[in-house]
Amino acid sequence: VSTTTTINRRIVLASRPDGIPEPGHFRRDDQPLPQLQAGQLLVRNLYLSIDPAQRGWVNAGNNYSNPVAIGDVMRSLAVGVVEQSRNDNYRVGVHVYGWLGWQDYCVANADSIWLTVDPQNGPLTTALGVLGINGLTAFLALNEIGCPKPGETVVVSTAAGAVGSIVGQIARRDGCHVVGLTGSNAKAQRCVSDYGYQLALNYHDEQLSQRVKDACPRGVDVFFDNTSGSIADAVWPHLNSHARIVQCGTAAIANWLPPPVALRRDRDLLVKRLRHAGFVIFDHAAKFPETIATLGTWLREGTLKYRDDIEVGLDRAPHALAAIYRGENEGKKIIML
Ligand SMILES: NC(=O)c1ccc[n+]([C@@H]2O[C@H](COP(=O)([O-])OP(=O)(O)OC[C@H]3O[C@@H](n4cnc5c(N)ncnc54)[C@H](OP(=O)(O)O)[C@@H]3O)[C@@H](O)[C@H]2O)c1
Repeated sequence: VSTTTTINRRIVLASRPDGIPEPGHFRRDDQPLPQLQAGQLLVRNLYLSIDPAQRGWVNAGNNYSNPVAIGDVMRSLAVGVVEQSRNDNYRVGVHVYGWLGWQDYCVANADSIWLTVDPQNGPLTTALGVLGINGLTAFLALNEIGCPKPGETVVVSTAAGAVGSIVGQIARRDGCHVVGLTGSNAKAQRCVSDYGYQLALNYHDEQLSQRVKDACPRGVDVFFDNTSGSIADAVWPHLNSHARIVQCGTAAIANWLPPPVALRRDRDLLVKRLRHAGFVIFDHAAKFPETIATLGTWLREGTLKYRDDIEVGLDRAPHALAAIYRGENEGKKIIML
């Protein structure tokens, strides 16, 4: 098929959401594929990564990258196969992971590609989740900021999700007492049966702060926080002196502007000598290969569990993004094309 006649199905941003993106903020805009320029590759997307962070990439302000422009293809990580190449570093037939967008094909420059996928590591979907943004974030944020030591207590929010499920298992490997917070009893059960947590709590419990206290009899040394909001408010009173708080996500904050009004914690920070630090995975690209090697070894040994939640069809992508903000995903949310 000539690239000039191939129509590329694309999902573009139609309007800018204030809070959580809904399907109505996107529209289909199919276009012919452009010819490859020198250095470019044509990638056929196979699996799209659905990430809570995509909310930040379409919102107007207060983020770490420029927002997607109205009318542009929705920014997304994906795994695809190189079908044509004018770049000597990527031959036809290899699988790549990177910024490929919500579309069938991506005419990619080399700087859009995060890495070439090693098929020895497992099914291709692992490159998106457990060996992709989620596993990398879990490993690097926990180790760079959380610094868990054997015997310490680690509390994790969104514990049953793609990041949280891996954090639980790594902290348990490190010899910690690991407690998860999640949105349903079924997910809490899975945290304990599959993801390394000794205990997991449903954060809808009205006595959540007391439950956290009971679950962490020696206090909390590391809080891996993916939600902020009232879930975090239930954990902070139980932080030990010298505890580390990893601010990895803010999923429970419905709107970022104006900033939500909350308790002041400066006195706790001072008195308990807490360390509260934000983490963004894109700052850590230099450590991706060694981290994937470690996670890939555990995966092949069978000591690292993960769960993919796969939906079929490009047009499902906007619905899938909204659904993870309703907690409807069971593991890494992926769209198969
Ligand atoms: N900083 C970084 O570099 C980086 C990179 C990747 C991911 N993250 C963050 O890590 C977190 C998890 O991401 P993920 O990709 O692994 O997704 P995930 O946990 O698989 O899915 C998101 C989960 O968030 C929970 N959630 C959604 N809305 C919520 C709300 N209002 N209150 C409380 N919980 C809510 C839901 O779980 P429940 O059913 O348990 O409510 C949902 O399943 C997100 O906050 C994401 O932004 C950060």
